[in-house]
Amino acid sequence: MTTDPSGVSTSVDQSTLILGIETSCDETAAALVMGGHDVVSSVVSTQIDLHARYGGVVPEIASRAHLDTLNPVVARAIVEAGIAESRIDAVACTVGPGLIGALLVGVAAAKSFALAWDVPFVAVNHHEAHLYSAFLEDPNLQFPLVVMLVSGGHTMLIEMRGHGDYRLLGRTVDDAAGEAFDKVARFLGLGYPGGPAMDREAKRGDPTAIAFPRAMLHEGLDFSFSGLKTAVMNYVRKHPDVSSQDVAASFQQAVVDVLVAKARRAAREVGATGLVLGGGVAANSLLRDRFLLACQEDGLRGFLPSLAMCTDNAAMIAAAGWYRLRSDGPSGLDTGASPNLRLFD
Ligand code: KG4
Ligand code: ZN
Repeated sequence: MTTDPSGVSTSVDQSTLILGIETSCDETAAALVMGGHDVVSSVVSTQIDLHARYGGVVPEIASRAHLDTLNPVVARAIVEAGIAESRIDAVACTVGPGLIGALLVGVAAAKSFALAWDVPFVAVNHHEAHLYSAFLEDPNLQFPLVVMLVSGGHTMLIEMRGHGDYRLLGRTVDDAAGEAFDKVARFLGLGYPGGPAMDREAKRGDPTAIAFPRAMLHEGLDFSFSGLKTAVMNYVRKHPDVSSQDVAASFQQAVVDVLVAKARRAAREVGATGLVLGGGVAANSLLRDRFLLACQEDGLRGFLPSLAMCTDNAAMIAAAGWYRLRSDGPSGLDTGASPNLRLFD
């Protein structure tokens, strides 16, 4: 039993039903999750079509779209779950990191629901939520785990020693892996969002066609992807007739080789029992195959969230919210949106 400063007491157990809300970037999402892992409903409304013509997310458009869409998305999550609002025990919401205007929409709505329903509000760090997407499929993961978080904004290797107990092992020193996918896709004219487009294009190309660099492959646990991006651009400028499928396949192979090599090294160094993949780039088909193969070869348990749980969604927010509520109790209603919120100092 935990008690928040306003006196709301919360008992967190397997029947605790949490409404998760996510509006940090370009997906408006709501989900109901019981006991931190049982997804009762999950609704994601993507804004991809609104941003596509600009080649990236336009913050002002994102905020306005969240404002229009959030209430219907929450209503649908509740209707799909087939429950009454009164059954909801807490409301968890991403408070950061993300686009400030986009975050504010979700945070204001989540606090209003919590206040109106007289249930706790739980502030969730978006990165911590990505770590928890694997627990949606298997709540009994054994620690220590190494989590590789690969998204549009981050590439991190994290040792997870227990719930809420993390240590940063390595991170990108420049571009995130997803950012490199997006920038190369844009350069090749493959459109937005870049990662899935590159994944599709690469399926028809030869991954050995071009020997792109694998930066820092044999050094430590940090990553660097900006040199690879520049190498792709230089190569295409020099060879304008090259097949974009071969470029996409060779680029993707270089990224995956580095990600998998570092994840294995990290697991070895900390004596992890398993490796977990999280973040939007975890949807990449080659990365998923190679990651599981590496886990098999190294005798590690490999955990891959389903495709829907890799990219931004609210089920992972509700799951992380369940663990946060259990360990820290409710967050104050004065908690604000925090666009630069970090998982590590
Ligand atoms: O975690 P996420 O949904 O949003 C944040 O950045 O927090 O990740 C989005 C990133 C984008 O860079 C997108 O291009 C990448 O994930 N991504 C992919 C694939 N699907 C999404 N990258 C490579 N292959 C994919 N299939
Ligand atoms: Zn994300």
